[in-house]
Amino acid sequence: MTNPALSPLFETLAIRQWSLKNRVVMPPMVTVRNIVGEDGIAWYSEHAEGGPGLVIIEATATPRFGQDLTVETLTPLVEAIHAKGALAAIQLFPVIISRDAELDLNELSLADIQTIVADYRRAARICQAAGMDGVQPHGAHGFLLNRFFSPAHNRRSDEYGGSLDNRMRLGLEIVRAIVDEVGSELMMLYRHTPVQADSYGLEESLAFARELVAAGVDVLDLSPSSKEAPGDLAAPFMQLGAKVITVGNLDKPERAEEALRESRADLVAIGRGLIADPNWANKLAENNADSITKCVRCDVMCFGNLRQRIPIACTQW
Ligand SMILES: Cc1cc2nc3c(=O)[nH]c(=O)nc-3n(C[C@H](O)[C@H](O)[C@H](O)COP(=O)(O)O)c2cc1C
Repeated sequence: MTNPALSPLFETLAIRQWSLKNRVVMPPMVTVRNIVGEDGIAWYSEHAEGGPGLVIIEATATPRFGQDLTVETLTPLVEAIHAKGALAAIQLFPVIISRDAELDLNELSLADIQTIVADYRRAARICQAAGMDGVQPHGAHGFLLNRFFSPAHNRRSDEYGGSLDNRMRLGLEIVRAIVDEVGSELMMLYRHTPVQADSYGLEESLAFARELVAAGVDVLDLSPSSKEAPGDLAAPFMQLGAKVITVGNLDKPERAEEALRESRADLVAIGRGLIADPNWANKLAENNADSITKCVRCDVMCFGNLRQRIPIACTQW
């Protein structure tokens, strides 16, 4: 890796009133811990201490806000992340996560859709009051919001299905509701999958991204990238007026740097690499790359544990 003093990974980045101390992002990853309990706070505190500029807390169901997730319960989590020098955002999931697979979007009523939007609005307000810096609707990976966008899944015949305008509608309504509620006080992120084989391609995603940015999105988080050139699927989104995160197999520092140097992204998210070694960023900053505990892509105790609903861990610890 380049001398850390010259590495693009350690350049700061300004996003409206926020300043990220570097270009490294911890992407949302379900930990199977209680994010507002001792174990969850310890996890996020340790990861913030490891050096990323921005920590995005895992997919968290909006219906929980006002229930177990309140200003009081969330504030210690946010403070723990801030105390270690990182900004804190949270990924917001539209329904209780375990229900996603059983939900047929084609059968959701208009009242159900209004509830989804209202839940986002309420969740964002609570996040802002708890001191969060940003929120991110989860619009990626084939989950509910992504299925609304996907012509292969969305068979609705009302204003939420069919044409591209209609398939973009729910994502845009959510963003507009959050921006209306707390836009000036919260960084607005959106996670989207740029290409879904047999469903939609880059062109429709770019049209969506343009609308998201016009609606107030500050940061487009494009997931996943392909495994080929780092950030290749994020690069087309760089000219839309928002900052761009790319993610996927970037934990070899040279790959992360390449994505930044070739202007394919403004920020790089390191997922499993940060599970294997929460100190990834600090070790690089200290010119100590050799001491990084590397992810070996076994997926046994990260994705594997997640599937079994036991707290995620790593075989390399
Ligand atoms: C255990 C685990 C949980 C994840 N949970 C989420 C999640 O809550 N939301 C999300 O958008 N992506 C989730 N992801 C995907 C990651 O954010 C990231 O996009 C993916 O791991 C690819 O990056 P990597 O190659 O650096 O690991 C998860 C990944 C792992 C390993």
